[in-house]
Amino acid sequence: MIKHQMVVVGAGLAGLRAAIEAHDRGIDVAVISKVHPVRSHSVAAQGGINGALANNPDGKEDNPERHAFDTVKGSDYLADQDAVLIMTEDAPKVIIEMENWGVPFSRTPEGRIAQRPFGGAGFPRTAYASDKTGHALLHAMYEQTVKRKIKVYEEWIVLSLAIEDGQTHGLTAMNMLTGQVEGFVAESVVFATGGAGRIYKQSTNAMINTGFGMAIAYKAGIPLKDMEFVQFHPTSLFGTNILITEGARGEGGYLFNNKGERFMEKYAPSVMELAPRDIVSRSIFTEVMEGRGFENAYVHLDLTHLGEEKIKERLPGIRDIAIHFAGVDPVKEPLPIQPSQHYTMGGIDCNADGETVAKGFYAAGEAACVSVHGANRLGGNSLLDTIVFGKRAGVAVAKYLNGSNKPKASEEAVSKALKSMNDRIAELKNSTGNENPQEVRDRLKEVMNQKVGIYRNKEDLASALKEIEELKERYKHIHLNYKGEKYNLDLIRNLELEGKLLVAEVITKGALLREESRGSHSRRDFTERNDSEWLKHTMAHYAEEGAKIDYKEVTMGTWEPQARKY
Ligand code: FUM
Repeated sequence: MIKHQMVVVGAGLAGLRAAIEAHDRGIDVAVISKVHPVRSHSVAAQGGINGALANNPDGKEDNPERHAFDTVKGSDYLADQDAVLIMTEDAPKVIIEMENWGVPFSRTPEGRIAQRPFGGAGFPRTAYASDKTGHALLHAMYEQTVKRKIKVYEEWIVLSLAIEDGQTHGLTAMNMLTGQVEGFVAESVVFATGGAGRIYKQSTNAMINTGFGMAIAYKAGIPLKDMEFVQFHPTSLFGTNILITEGARGEGGYLFNNKGERFMEKYAPSVMELAPRDIVSRSIFTEVMEGRGFENAYVHLDLTHLGEEKIKERLPGIRDIAIHFAGVDPVKEPLPIQPSQHYTMGGIDCNADGETVAKGFYAAGEAACVSVHGANRLGGNSLLDTIVFGKRAGVAVAKYLNGSNKPKASEEAVSKALKSMNDRIAELKNSTGNENPQEVRDRLKEVMNQKVGIYRNKEDLASALKEIEELKERYKHIHLNYKGEKYNLDLIRNLELEGKLLVAEVITKGALLREESRGSHSRRDFTERNDSEWLKHTMAHYAEEGAKIDYKEVTMGTWEPQARKY
């Protein structure tokens, strides 16, 4: 057995920030990651990180309260307002700390950290490092991890949690290189395992974003919250789903339909292309569905009027992507874009310290739902969320482990979890079932794309749920093609497939039950937000026969729900 006081799962910004904070408070911490830390999905964030620094000449009036208001309105009033204020008040400090750690933020002519406008924000509030902000942040964070010699179990995948009677004892994880499954005995575990984008056919997410961490926590008895709220980013490169940053519109990019109209004028006349993502994605979808798209599939994002110099300075990454993956140079031609799944607003239910219902088990980052994004996240708030709440989880774990009532992890509980995981793997390897797992996985992605997408209705959602149930049944009869030990991706992907099915079921069930439209959850058959019945968080609890759903109050504060107009 491997022993640490604290094990963080996930080496993106949230996970590393939690590990660094706990380490600095004297905790023996280790990090487990499926990939090398700088390949974690935080690296792919492009446009920036929000914080009311008030550096931009147009942003002098900005402050954390205004940032909080924009976030709450953007969330369609489902975010918990106390948590939002914690995040927005911490935001300027977090950005300065990251700058002190070496992040090369882009600058104003006076040398301050530059800030660009982003959707749903009242002021230019998004600090950026050209269009590679996540890359710059994650590399700086990783340097801090290396400097502290924090142990990273790289290319290890977590498989299950050892939680008994509401107390965390550790987890099981596989060394992917050898195929060996080990028990980790730990008084505390932090899941910062990222989102679940890859259950959709079209997603900007990396292959690693399977939602497996969420599913493991869910199966271990931790509820998932607000999973029906799935963000579709308005601008992914047509045919590839690669993210084209909102920063492109922040820098002044226009959206055009096939009639040459800047169609956002119809949908959000006061902010146009800088409406929140749910609104812009629905607008693009509507234009295409009503025949005003190109090739019935995409619209144009035009940057040509920004000029070569600005594009090369502020948006070099998306220019490279467009040239290499679509053969289009945005200096000369508009980009073909379409919405793609981008972010999981819901996640493991936790508070602003990452605490969950199980003692010693914490969550942070996209895997978690605090909730600060509610029904729709504002661009630039997710990098912020990872660092603010990653750090807070690190503080909370250190307090828990250093407290007077010191917890003691049970080796026996971890041994039990280890035995049961090894049995499960043997069962899968020995299965003679005739179902092809690739077909199950592909069908799941198709169903989520077609029936649990930007617009939803009862018929589609009910049919999706039925299909997911059938796919769960088929999953029981899958066989593996490769049964070896070393780097067995067939085994790993098919262990993850169970998690994908569970998460998809939770999303779909929550969406079917929520008979209103709020933020990213847009029902054709219930087109209005209904605060009297639905201003509440959805809580999904694991049960063998399928998710059990109940609800929990939203923490309100200064801002009463208003009509959400832009
Ligand atoms: O558009 C983007 O650059 C993405 C930012 C985000 O998801 O926060």
